Amino acid sequence: MDLKNYLKKMQKLVDESLEKYLPQKDELPSSIHSAMRYSMFAGGKRVRPILVLAACEAVGGDLKQAMAAACAMEMVHTYSLIHDDLPAMDDDDFRRGNPTNHKVFGEATAILAGDALLTEAFILLSHPCCSGDLDPGIQCQVIHEMAVCAGSRGMIGGQVVDMESEGKPEIDLATVLYIHTHKTGALIKASVRVGALIGGAAGQKLDAITRYAEAIGLAFQIADDILDIEGTTEQIGKDAGSDQARGKATYPAVLGLAESKRRAEELVDAALEALSCFDEKAEPLREIANYIVKRKS
Ligand code: IPE
Ligand code: IPE
Ligand code: MG
Ligand code: MG
Ligand code: MG
Repeated sequence: MDLKNYLKKMQKLVDESLEKYLPQKDELPSSIHSAMRYSMFAGGKRVRPILVLAACEAVGGDLKQAMAAACAMEMVHTYSLIHDDLPAMDDDDFRRGNPTNHKVFGEATAILAGDALLTEAFILLSHPCCSGDLDPGIQCQVIHEMAVCAGSRGMIGGQVVDMESEGKPEIDLATVLYIHTHKTGALIKASVRVGALIGGAAGQKLDAITRYAEAIGLAFQIADDILDIEGTTEQIGKDAGSDQARGKATYPAVLGLAESKRRAEELVDAALEALSCFDEKAEPLREIANYIVKRKS
């Protein structure tokens, strides 16, 4: 399959739906809606919503039923980026090839834009118009998974330990593993699981796709650490070298570049192995696993 075309097609579908779901810029108060839309449409890769859709299709589900959850996931992710870039956190100036939200709208509005995107995600997930003919039990499970992955036992937990580990001279691998599986892995795992749940997966199939998701979630953050060192600001659309400058706990900092790359490759193999009982409908998921470690942005 042609992954480039697949990603382009899916990005377009996601963007069209996000356009529809998000409050318009001129809706009052327009400052907050402009700030929310600024970051949402600044050019993200849309990996998480595409994973929702691809996982739904991989288990034989209907992509249209998963679109609201896909968009909600991208809203939660974009909120996390706005807050991650704030002066109190990573203090970064560029994101998705543009000045960060707080650089354009100021810190107070950036904080509120993040809060509003997180809230908007759950407005969308629980909206009767967006559930289609989804089983109410599954809809509730989807909302629960999304909430848990974003909370202090998920993404926020990872962000907290990431901050607390900053500048520490001796960081062990277990701590970096915790940070990566939570700050990034949690949302990626939930993206795949939510897509699979909407598509009707259960039992061993759901367990297998969960193993795939855990492996690519960790691989994604190791690749992000590597890109922070090897990529340019222009390529990655955000401040390159930011991790070393802040003394971040990263895989390369603990294991070195070569071993980090080897582990990322190993995780891709594990992800592909987890999908061995899936048919050709899982081909996009397989291609995405490879893309996650080969990407240049
Ligand atoms: C960046 O995520 C932040 C991490 C969790 C590593 P992406 O690399 O998916 O960023 P966008 O959405 O494409 O901007
Ligand atoms: C970000 O990790 C994780 C979240 C936003 C939850 P990073 O701080 O490494 O992400 P980038 O490199 O700024 O995109
Ligand atoms: Mg960070
Ligand atoms: Mg950051
Ligand atoms: Mg990073």
